[in-house]
Amino acid sequence: MTFSKGRRSITASNDQRAGLGQVSLGSWPTPVEAAPRLAARLGIKPGSLWIKRDDLTGLGAGGNKVRKLQYTCAAALDNGATTLVTSGAAQSNHARLTAAAACRLGLDCCLVLAGQAPLVPDGNLALEALLGAQIVWAGDVKDDELGRRVDAVSCELTNAGKRVEVIPFGGSNVRGAHGYIDCGHELRAQIPGLRHVVVAVGSGGTMAGLVAALGPERVLGIDAGAMPDVADRIGGMLGGLAAQGAMPLAHARQPLRLRSDQIGPGYGVLTRQARDALVDAGQCEGIILDPVYTAKALSGLAAAVADGSISRDDCTVFVHTGGLPGLFGHDFLRDLQRYPPSI
Ligand SMILES: Cc1ncc(COP(=O)(O)O)c(C=O)c1O
Repeated sequence: MTFSKGRRSITASNDQRAGLGQVSLGSWPTPVEAAPRLAARLGIKPGSLWIKRDDLTGLGAGGNKVRKLQYTCAAALDNGATTLVTSGAAQSNHARLTAAAACRLGLDCCLVLAGQAPLVPDGNLALEALLGAQIVWAGDVKDDELGRRVDAVSCELTNAGKRVEVIPFGGSNVRGAHGYIDCGHELRAQIPGLRHVVVAVGSGGTMAGLVAALGPERVLGIDAGAMPDVADRIGGMLGGLAAQGAMPLAHARQPLRLRSDQIGPGYGVLTRQARDALVDAGQCEGIILDPVYTAKALSGLAAAVADGSISRDDCTVFVHTGGLPGLFGHDFLRDLQRYPPSI
């Protein structure tokens, strides 16, 4: 890894919403596609289920983190950063996309990842190597220890003459959540009668932005189990967005629709229901989900239909937040023979 990339001069454009800078990193708006065969499979009226293709955001193999990085990277440029530092799980999609954003902006990137270096980098790690990111392995650490490692690495880089911008874990803070306010506005225009938006939840910024744009009744978050206190974190981001005037304070105080019944044995562990969801999305619509987030989100949608919280006729959007590279770093692929088609 070198820290010698030339910095391109990219000026953040102005977002009227909160006077926030934004730098364009993706392709917008992402498409919305009908999913009639998947709808029938889940017990929804064909014609009432749509998929928002935020796996097709463009940069670095795509995914939801690109929208947040448009805001957090604009701040990095404003601050004169030369190096982006962020953290995540070993197969973090956010880490891969931060590395890709750094390349696009002519910045260096250092990723502090939980776990140990594998013998052969696969999935997101292979792409991070391709993108030239420096990786610091933090070992088997808890979230707060990972944060301390980020601070230590940032200090070392600063002492070496770099101007460091720390992008938060998962890209989730008030600023990053504005990316999903943008997505919510796109959805309003694309599917005017939408009743439910179903989305995977990790660090919570995606759900927070959607709630800010669409209101808490319409957004159903499916917790993938990445953080124990994610509901509080989302509440904190909503409070910050309301304080900026980006959403009504009353909405920020309403209860969230957040399901935690799809986590199973833990974060990253594929449940039978999530495996079925992967197979259903693939075999009904030719759409590939990831085993950590979007498969659990779709199994959460199936559970919501089964228990009546989503009705057959309700206009429903499933947000595909990406994560495909993670599939190629997950045990699931090695175990594929054990999972015969269920249709
Ligand atoms: C593919 C994918 N979907 C959904 C999420 C959840 O997004 P958030 O962290 O904003 O809750 C993540 C987070 O890493 C992700 O990588």
